[in-house]
This record gives sequence, C-alpha cells and structure tokens, in this order.
Amino acid sequence: MDIQSIINRIASDVSTASDRGQVADYIPELASIDPNQFGISVALPDGTCFSAGDAQTPFSIQSVSKVFTLALALGRFGDQLWTRVGREPSGLPFNSILQLEQENGIPRNPFINAGAIAITDSILTGHEPKEVLGELLRFVQTSAEDADIHINDTVAHSETEHGDRNLALAHFMASYGNLQNHPDRTCGTYFHQCAIEMSCQQLAMAGRFLTGHPDAPRLISLQRTRRINALMLTCGHYDGSGDFAYRVGLPGKSGVGGGILVIAPNRASIAVWSPGLNEYGNSQLGTYAIEKFAQMTGWSVFG
Ligand code: DON
Repeated sequence: MDIQSIINRIASDVSTASDRGQVADYIPELASIDPNQFGISVALPDGTCFSAGDAQTPFSIQSVSKVFTLALALGRFGDQLWTRVGREPSGLPFNSILQLEQENGIPRNPFINAGAIAITDSILTGHEPKEVLGELLRFVQTSAEDADIHINDTVAHSETEHGDRNLALAHFMASYGNLQNHPDRTCGTYFHQCAIEMSCQQLAMAGRFLTGHPDAPRLISLQRTRRINALMLTCGHYDGSGDFAYRVGLPGKSGVGGGILVIAPNRASIAVWSPGLNEYGNSQLGTYAIEKFAQMTGWSVFG
C-alpha cells in the first residue's frame, strides 16, 4: 500500500475545502492561529514516517496530552486509578460540569476535562509541578524519539487567565474529596500539560507505543495499550465519540488545538492537524481527513 500517495491525495483534497470549522477562541492564544493549515503524518511502529501538508509545524496538542498522562498515571497507580475516575462515555461536551454533581464528584472518564484534571492531580501528589511536567515531557520525547518537544508557556498562561471553567470543575471535585492538591496547583499543571507543542510528525511518532506492535517503543504493558485504545474509541471525542467511531472505526483522541491522534492497532500511529473545530470541539478537516484515510487504507478495528 502506498501510504505516501494516499496522504498526498488527502492533503490536496482538503486544501480546497471551504468550511474549515472555527478555531478555539476561549484560549486567546489559540484564537489567532491560521485556520488554513493542515498536516498529516503516519508513523509505522519501526519509526518509518510518511507526512504531507504542514506536518512539521508545531501546534498545541491540548487534550491529546490526556492520553500520555493517563499512560503515566496507570503506570503509577494501576487499577486503583479507577476509584477516582470512571470509564464511560459522557455524552456531554468536554468541559461539562453536569454529571459531576449527579455522580458525586467522580468524572465519567479520563478524557473529559474533569477526568483529566483528576488524573493530573493523581500524578501531582507528592511531587512538584515542574517534576511532573518534566516526567511527562520525557515520556513524550522518549516515545517520539525526539528531544525537541516543549511546553509553550504563553499558551499555558493564556489558558490560566481564562481557566474559570476548569477551576470550577476542580473545586467541585475537591468538595467531594476527589482532589488531593489545591485546585490552582492541579489546574496550573494541567494547563501546562495541555500546552505541549508538537508537529504531526512528532505526535505520530509519539503515539507508536499505543500500536502494541513489537517494533514500537514499549513504554507500557500490552494490556494497558489495549485499554487506553478502548477508552480512546469510546470517549476520545467527547459527545462526538460515537460519530468518530462510526466514520473512522479507529481509536482517536482530539484536542482543541485541532490535532487528532489516531491508532491503527498493530499497524501505525497517525496524527492529523487542522485548527478549525466542529460543533463538538474536534478538528473538522482532521476528522474528514482521517475518515478518508481509513476508507482508502481499509484500516479499522472492526475487521
Ligand atoms: O481544558 C481545556 O479546555 C483545554 N486545555 C483542553 C480541551 C480540549 O482540548 C478539548 N478537546 N477537544
């Protein structure tokens, strides 16, 4: 299969798209990103990487970072983690507070904001934010085999200035005893984690550990790899997760920076980026591109 010509065709197809969605504007630093950008990279488990479009341009990975913190937290706490956060799709927007009250401060899953804040809080306990962010960066750099991956402090501060919703989620969890650090400390760390910048090529490389293939970096057990993939498929696109599973048929995790990490188990890790978002806060053209890619390759977890 000629992966390079498939992604070239996709990049050329989306370059003429008129409806590119809306860039996230609730984080002011992200509001000024040029929506006309598009990149895609496909990394095979052994590190062979195919790219098209703006695949070398770094972007804010935002919620895609939740996959890496989940891997770290599972490594540290194992199944105990599931006393603090559930494993069910929420069917609600990523920043919703509704279920938190009905469900006693236990977030539905690790990928909605409340769940990701609880995960970050868990790895923060007993450590300095700097240490935790350093460990996270090293994990990502190791999996990508690339040391040139950084946190954009300006983006982190921009989100901190407008972080009322996430702080509310953290305080709400604290009121139920489901937060071990001060909400400012946990959210500050979480905002920095979200502000990691990577290009499509770096992100595709970093995702290889989730393919479960023996040639990929083995950073977590095979069983955990499968479980993180299951959560990505069911919860990785929030209230758009069912639609993504239907259209693409592969586990994926999106971020409001417009990036999506998609895993084709045993085959490849794919990163796609286009800053304009659809109604669910997931990349509009990114979703379209990955749907086309899945169709053209025939790759699916459903056979
Ligand atoms: O917490 C937030 O709102 C952002 N830092 C991340 C949200 C996000 O990426 C949702 N994804 N589509």
